[in-house]
Amino acid sequence: MKIDDKSCSDLGKKYKEKYFESIKNPEKFWKEIALSRLDWEKVPTEFYSGNLVNGDAKWFADGRLNVSYNCIDRHVLAGLGGRVAYYYESDSGLRQVITYNDLLENVSRLANVLKSQNIKKGDTVCIYMPSIPEAIYSMLACTRIGAIHSVVFAGFSLESLKKRIDDAECNAIITVDSFFRGGKEIILFERIKSVLDECQSLKKILISPRSTDFMSVDERVINLAKAMVEVSNVCAPEWMFGEDPLFILYTSGSTGSPKGVLHTTAGYLLYVTYTHEQSFDLRSNDIYWSASDIGWITGHSYLVYGPLSNGTTSILFDGVPSHPSPSRVWDMIDRYKVSIYYSTPTIIRSLQRAGDEFLKSSKRESLRILGSVGEPINPEAWRWLDDRIGNNKCIIVDTWWQTETGGHALLPLPGVVKTKPGAAMLPFYGVEPVIVNLKGKVISSPYVPGSLLLKGAWPGHLRGLYKDRDRFINNYLIPYPGYFYTGDSAYIDEDGHIWVNGRIDDVLNIAGRLIGTAELESSIVSHPCATEAAAVAGPDEVKGSCIHVFVLLRNGTLSSSRLTDELKSCVAGCIGSFAKPDYIHIVESLPKTRSGKIMRRILRKIVHDEVDDFGDISTLSNSESVSQLTEYWDVFRNG
Ligand code: PRX
Repeated sequence: MKIDDKSCSDLGKKYKEKYFESIKNPEKFWKEIALSRLDWEKVPTEFYSGNLVNGDAKWFADGRLNVSYNCIDRHVLAGLGGRVAYYYESDSGLRQVITYNDLLENVSRLANVLKSQNIKKGDTVCIYMPSIPEAIYSMLACTRIGAIHSVVFAGFSLESLKKRIDDAECNAIITVDSFFRGGKEIILFERIKSVLDECQSLKKILISPRSTDFMSVDERVINLAKAMVEVSNVCAPEWMFGEDPLFILYTSGSTGSPKGVLHTTAGYLLYVTYTHEQSFDLRSNDIYWSASDIGWITGHSYLVYGPLSNGTTSILFDGVPSHPSPSRVWDMIDRYKVSIYYSTPTIIRSLQRAGDEFLKSSKRESLRILGSVGEPINPEAWRWLDDRIGNNKCIIVDTWWQTETGGHALLPLPGVVKTKPGAAMLPFYGVEPVIVNLKGKVISSPYVPGSLLLKGAWPGHLRGLYKDRDRFINNYLIPYPGYFYTGDSAYIDEDGHIWVNGRIDDVLNIAGRLIGTAELESSIVSHPCATEAAAVAGPDEVKGSCIHVFVLLRNGTLSSSRLTDELKSCVAGCIGSFAKPDYIHIVESLPKTRSGKIMRRILRKIVHDEVDDFGDISTLSNSESVSQLTEYWDVFRNG
């Protein structure tokens, strides 16, 4: 890939030299960083072998270290125990200050509770919690004893939770009895106990009490707060090899069940430490805020592991950005003097839409860097962020990456290149992006979209899918041999800068969250009245994209608003409320090829109002469905 030849700043030149060094000699490049950024119990002698695109990369394999030690102990030992790790604010406004000393105490206690429940190195532990301090203690406690955590976003339904517990064969789950969202209390306690009976591998459920001091006579149900008081506050870290599994995080796939992306110990920690430092030009006095939830990869990499490994002071916010008012985020930025705010286009657009009067109560003068992640940011939102939020004084860093890449893969590093609204710009060190056409030929002409592929050597990429090597190979490595398949479409401009368009596979990106069409459609057809469903993404001013589902009903079933509500509820029950379709379209037919595959391309065109040209439809077995759908759409759109 051509790297911005027009970039003439000193930092730009340094970046180019360093980037090419990282590509030419990855082992040397990452060795230096590994030795300077992490603390090792045993320094590695093997730094890098194998290759991502062959599915056998290994980083720092014979080195030994512990993630929680690197995130906490080493800062405490350096005399920084009193430094604030998190300023926590809950949905309802409760505030708590957590220092690195506090982290050490709580993580050690929680690790000792896990041990007392016979949870050992290599066991898998599910964490189903909102972004509260106990969730972070739980993640770090797992890493302290060498257990593999699998965090499940608290917005997922119990059905989704059970699937993930079964797939990862979790031995224990750490959760809460209830939590608040947008001022509403969500009670989990009674419902959550069902997972114990239904998931065979589960032996214990540890509940962090949030509302009441719950009582349970079931000895498999542990009150975490009580248990933490009863154990020692000292827990020696378990030294782990570089390639020992660290965590599993499920992400939606284009077919079937979610994929359990596996990250390992040293390479992941090093990559998130280094990207967090470089991408945000991190300084020791920064107050950093990542708006992500711990249930997604951004929460793992840039709310927990990257910032803590760097000894950063962060904001931990467990609430809705617009609750109780759309000025909350901006007021919090002033209150804590936040210098780096890392958010999502959906949050930015929703606060932009609320109106500029909500900016009046804050000045936001402490801000230095504004980050964006999760979905393409449209130029209007980018400019509003730059102008109204950042007072035209901040650097905007749009970071493109995936659960699979572990950390930032494409972005404009601060000062390296002049940013362009909406562009992901340049690769991070070690990452080699390539854009190809359908035949796998590299596209070097500007503005021609193609499939975004990666190769190269960066230590943070996934090592596989948990216990499913075939799916890993088939999904990511077979589509374009020699490259890692991202599932995204992208193009370059005349300067060689990269612009990401979004998904090209059957995965929807709604408000920065990936939802597999197969999973969504199967939850719709779990309703007895629905026989077939096809989900596509349509445009949405706030969320970027919204979900349209076209549904065929069983013969004789009449459409009604009650039925469409029921269909939406099926999705909420099977996946979670965040995946509820915005629109259900009950139609007469779906466009199908002769082999019976639904031609989603037609449905996508319809929901984008591009009904004048459907391209080649000669392979359709029921071409009349196109005119039926167009007529339906015309009536729908005109109310
Ligand atoms: O389509 C891309 C989009 O989010 C996908 C990855 O989703 P997930 O694994 O859940 O991780 C989200 C947080 C990294 C990508 O394949 N995406 C992520 N960041 C951007 C983006 N699309 C455009 N611009 C971005 N900055």
